[in-house]
Amino acid sequence: FNVPIPVNEPVKSYAPGSKEREELLNTYNELREQQLDIPMYIGGEEVRSGKTGTIAPPHDHQRVIATYHQGDASHVQQAIDAALAAREQWANMPWESRAAIFLKAADLLAGPFRARMNAATMLGQSKNAFQAEIDAACELIDFFKFNVKYMTDIYKMQPESLPGMWNRLEHRPLEGFVFALTPFNFTSIAANLPAAPALMGNVVVWKPANTQIYSAKVIMDLFKAAGVPDGVINLVYVDGPVAGDVIFKHRDFSGIHFTGSTGVFNHIWKTIGENVGNYRNYPRIVGETGGKDFIVAHKSADAKEVAVAITRGAFEYQGQKCSAASRAYIPSNIWEDVKAYVIEDLASLEMGDPQDFGNFINAVIDEKSFDKLAKYIDAAKKDKGVEIIAGGNYDKSKGYFIEPTIIVAEDPSYVTMCEELFGPVLTLHVYDENKFEETLEIVDKTSPYALTGAIFSNDRYAIEVASKKLSHAAGNFYINDKPTGAVVGQQPFGGSRASGTNDKAGSMLNLLRWTTARTIKETF
Ligand code: NAD
Ligand code: ALA
Repeated sequence: FNVPIPVNEPVKSYAPGSKEREELLNTYNELREQQLDIPMYIGGEEVRSGKTGTIAPPHDHQRVIATYHQGDASHVQQAIDAALAAREQWANMPWESRAAIFLKAADLLAGPFRARMNAATMLGQSKNAFQAEIDAACELIDFFKFNVKYMTDIYKMQPESLPGMWNRLEHRPLEGFVFALTPFNFTSIAANLPAAPALMGNVVVWKPANTQIYSAKVIMDLFKAAGVPDGVINLVYVDGPVAGDVIFKHRDFSGIHFTGSTGVFNHIWKTIGENVGNYRNYPRIVGETGGKDFIVAHKSADAKEVAVAITRGAFEYQGQKCSAASRAYIPSNIWEDVKAYVIEDLASLEMGDPQDFGNFINAVIDEKSFDKLAKYIDAAKKDKGVEIIAGGNYDKSKGYFIEPTIIVAEDPSYVTMCEELFGPVLTLHVYDENKFEETLEIVDKTSPYALTGAIFSNDRYAIEVASKKLSHAAGNFYINDKPTGAVVGQQPFGGSRASGTNDKAGSMLNLLRWTTARTIKETF
């Protein structure tokens, strides 16, 4: 089990005048002009249905940059058939070969694929260069490399044997195929959801969000270049319910690796439940879902640190990280200072297209999301007991741009303190500095989610109290740091309650779900 010891991929700075900045911008401009025709990939073949949809950057929605071929139920069936045809050979391949393929993918992404993966993420998902770099390059490289190490950690897990016998655990791939159903907001997650089960010897049908197809194509090119055999990962673009209708009724459906909203996951879980008697095995159900991530400050906290955590933690990638802070609880004694710092910091943030490196804020993903966010902002402008202290403007004439917006709510149960909005809107409640414990109870109870959260305090007792009272309120809990930016290998990521099955992406816990062990006892 001698594999390279993984080290986190260093983040490139794209400093002005650097070669890496020039290469990234050139790649971005080239891609923007290419008018790609993006096929589905089934059994290693490029499949063109002839029924096409268009792709435009969220920050420039009238500029069509690509078309993609929409599939239907028959393409989903073909993808399942191709996966099952590839299964025996792939499942029986020595683990070293699977490891080598994904280590090569990491190497290619660190080198020749880096600029294209980042540029595709900037164009297709409206991420600025730095946000693309930490997602589409670094996090994905880390997933590939660390998962190889965790795979060997699993294989090393073996039982005791007494004299005269040899007991062993054989960690086998699942019987059947895995369905990877992926979200728009992280290119790394979209790639890891099919890659992690495949690394463990499984075959996969992958359906991305329509708003991530542009970078999904580059991921597929990367898999091919790294040597993933035909049929092991099959990529189709179909409506979610159409894919679900074929997949969840299939006898060989062996698991779903999902990241997306809670409502969709609930629906999927019910559908699988309705079909449970029809499967060869009980399917693995792994889902990372929504969040209402929090920042709580104690009266001992440093106001500037809290303010920076709010502007970075809530507004990087327009608040469209599953980990993004979207509610904050600030004690009255530091509120005026926090408010002044936050307003000053937000005023310095530029908004616009991602290819302009000065723009911290880019567009939200699509019109549906824009309209939903605008509705909440409009309501906050009218509702009693709430005040917008920053932002509040939006414009969709060229791209789906929404200013980073902070709503202050007297009522900690105000709608935007509880519901997931998934955009650049943070709601904040100022509490009596002497009511810290009561406030923690409110944090715990006002939302059904439990993904990420942060406590800011310079008082160790307060940190302990928060850690205990919020013990199930966040799967990733940060002390004196913003709640975003989990790094593979350092902070395994995932939440519980309505935020998912907490199988911790980028850890052995996740990979364990993609194996099924056989115990073997041999006597001599
Ligand atoms: P989404 O739920 O709208 O879509 C996710 C995937 O499900 C897409 O591929 C979509 O096409 C598909 N889908 C939608 N309806 C379906 C149906 N009825 N049947 C089958 N498939 C269906 O999510 P999104 O907008 O792409 O991503 C944002 C959401 O993802 C947010 O709620 C965010 O919190 C969550 N998220 C969570 C994590 C985490 O680690 N917990 C990470 C990233 C994103
Ligand atoms: N790694 C991502 C974050 O924590 C999911 O923001």
